[in-house]
Amino acid sequence: MLNIVLFGPPGAGKGTQAVKLVENYNLVHLSTGDMLRAEMKKGSPLGLTVKDLIDKGELVSDEIVIELIRENVNNNKNAAGFIFDGFPRTIAQAKSLDAMLEKESMNISLMITLEVEEQELIKRILTRGETSGRTDDLDTGIIKNRIKVYNEQTSPVADYYKRQNKHIPVDNMGTIDETFDCLKKVLDPKIVTEQN
Ligand code: C5P
Ligand code: MG
Repeated sequence: MLNIVLFGPPGAGKGTQAVKLVENYNLVHLSTGDMLRAEMKKGSPLGLTVKDLIDKGELVSDEIVIELIRENVNNNKNAAGFIFDGFPRTIAQAKSLDAMLEKESMNISLMITLEVEEQELIKRILTRGETSGRTDDLDTGIIKNRIKVYNEQTSPVADYYKRQNKHIPVDNMGTIDETFDCLKKVLDPKIVTEQN
């Protein structure tokens, strides 16, 4: 199995690269942001609970996102592997994920951080906001708060995987295809070893 944590600040290109990774490696893409937005769209009780936090760019509780991930991992028992996108966002989430996977004799193969400068992140998110239908992509204040929340609460998660020797930074200031080529260079050798 190849289980990847795709990491990086908001607007770093995680969703975009995840789509290409799914195609190339036949993985299941689990994006907690997409799951939460789907709940909001349905107007479910969960969607209503998280709406205010998401609109402000704050984090939803660990319990909620861990449960969403748990359901989706369990619903994909035959997956060749998972891409975790936008999760884990706290150390508590990272620890829960490790425990959850260990129970099923699985583990995280590696974490890839997509690196993009802050000014470029804001520019990319505002451009995405023109078509994404996401209110949190339209307001510079909210975008800056999301980046602040990432720097304060989420970036320590990278250290958690660094300690496990699983962390690989990849520059994403260039084009989508250039970055994807870098990801393939990292992942292709992994595929061979994971299958042995
Ligand atoms: O991952 P994405 O940027 O799509 O997430 C959008 C929003 O969903 C975040 O700004 C945050 O409010 C919420 N979220 C969260 N915890 C996660 C994933 C997303 O609070 N693990
Ligand atoms: Mg995303």
